[in-house]
Amino acid sequence: MENEDWIYSEKVKEHFLHPRNFLMGDESNFDYDAAGLVGNPICGDQMKMYIKVKDNKIVDIRWKTYGCASAIASTSALSELAKGRTLDDALLISAKEIDDYLGNLPKHKFHCSVLGHEALADAINKYKNGAH
Ligand code: FES
Repeated sequence: MENEDWIYSEKVKEHFLHPRNFLMGDESNFDYDAAGLVGNPICGDQMKMYIKVKDNKIVDIRWKTYGCASAIASTSALSELAKGRTLDDALLISAKEIDDYLGNLPKHKFHCSVLGHEALADAINKYKNGAH
């Protein structure tokens, strides 16, 4: 594997060290309307995403994970991109949009970047189906 395949952009490092919208402590600390949970079949890590919804828009968002630096940075970015969007718009946020926002993740870490999005989709679908 080439050396540059392991290099993180400055923005990835910054989001990993200072993750946005990370849920500190217990989930009772955030008044959410729905939560989504996914596991990554490649590495076994998990991601949980919590959304607060008003007028069909994500007005606030939190997340927790056992995932790696790439998962943390990409979910931090996703949480910023999703906040303020309608539920349907948030579902359209692509792994490429997150990758572009962060200045590119190492290619072999791509599977980590989809974890947040899948958890967000699970939360949105649960919200739409009236589940929490
Ligand atoms: S290695 Fe598991 S989320 Fe990245």
